[in-house]
Formats: sequence, C-alpha cells, structure tokens
Amino acid sequence: DQPGDLPRLLLNWYDRHRRVLPWRAAPGEKADPYRVWLSEIMLQQTTVATVGPYFQAFLARWPGIADLAAAELDDVLRAWAGLGYYARARNLHKCAVTVADRHGGHFPDSEEGLLSLPGIGTYTAAAILAIAFDKPATAMDGNVERVMARLHAVRDPLPGSKPVLKAHAAALVPETRPGDYTQALFDLGASICVPRKPRCILCPWADPCRARRQGIAEELPAKTAK
Ligand code: ADE
Repeated sequence: DQPGDLPRLLLNWYDRHRRVLPWRAAPGEKADPYRVWLSEIMLQQTTVATVGPYFQAFLARWPGIADLAAAELDDVLRAWAGLGYYARARNLHKCAVTVADRHGGHFPDSEEGLLSLPGIGTYTAAAILAIAFDKPATAMDGNVERVMARLHAVRDPLPGSKPVLKAHAAALVPETRPGDYTQALFDLGASICVPRKPRCILCPWADPCRARRQGIAEELPAKTAK
C-alpha cells in the first residue's frame, strides 16, 4: 500500500456512509468551533444518542459562545442535569467566559492555546483542532485505540500500548481533510470496528487490516487484567 491509501479509503467510505449528527457540519460547510467544542465536552463519558437532545437544547438556548458566557452558572447546571459529571458543566461555563473575555469570543486554533482553557485536555484539544480547524491533529479515544490495535495487530494490552497506538494513529492523519478523517475514524469505530463482532465485511480497511488477516480482530485490543 501507498502511505496515502489508508486515509483515502476511509474518506471515500465516509463520503458514502457518514452519520448525520446534530453537531456535524454538512458536507462542504465550515465547522463552527463553538459547536465542535460543546459536542466534544458533552460526548466525554456520554453516548452519541444521549448527547443529541442536550446538544440541541443548549444550542437553541445559547447559540454562541457569548450567550453561554453570559448565562448564569445555575441555569447551565440545570440544563446539564442528566448528563452527569457536573465538573464538566462548571468547566464548560468557565471556558465560555474565558474565550469570550480573553480571546475575543474566538477559540484559539493552537494546541497550546486550547490546552490552557478550563476542561480542555489532550483529547479535546486535538478533536477541536482537527474537526473545527481542519488541522492534522490526533484525537485518541477508545474507538480510535481499538481501530489502531486491529489495523496494526498490536497484541500488547491496554493501557501500556497507548503510546504505540497513538503513534500509529498520528502517522496516518492526512494533510487533506483531517477533520473529516477524524470523524470518519469515530464512525468506523462506532459502526464497523465495534468491540464485539466487528463487521469486517463492510470495512474500508478490511484488506490492509492485520488483525483481520490473522483472525484476531475481535480479541483486540487486549487489556491488562484488573
Ligand atoms: N465521539 C467523540 N466525538 C465524536 C464526534 N465528533 N462524532 C461522533 N462521535 C464522537
């Protein structure tokens, strides 16, 4: 395979099968950093199905970062009720105030700038850089770890294998359409490369996938016994 083949295969698949999600920009449309940030904070430890209505409600009530920054914290906490992990909601509000007051209402488009904001860690910074600003950042979550473990047949167990999996993921992120590529990986992990009974027959990476070739896709990623 050529180095560029894997991203291209995945992007072609995404163009045909992308999920329609409330925070996703339509094809060819520019992403809104506020929506990307809000959805990524909500999606931490909460499923796509649960987040949907909450995301819509937040967006209807606070359409932009300045609106959320001007909100009362208590109103934000009440609107958050049901999503859990209230520290996320407190940081969400604090982050909105910081972006509105210190960044002129615009999210920074550098890793350093994003990491300095409340509630934004390595994963969220990378997701925002890729999806909102179309920069080739590597957003690692459990889905991406599983896809990389299988694609490269990494048999070493999590969590020790995390650095290796991240290096594999980083090596693949393309310069063209890194935002779509990142979302395509989430979709692949959610609908094809699932933990139990992966649907390899539908996978755009079935041919290059080393775990599938070795017949061990479902066994990966291995995990250190607790
Ligand atoms: N999980 C985390 N971020 C996501 C996103 N942007 N789309 C779908 N699933 C996700």
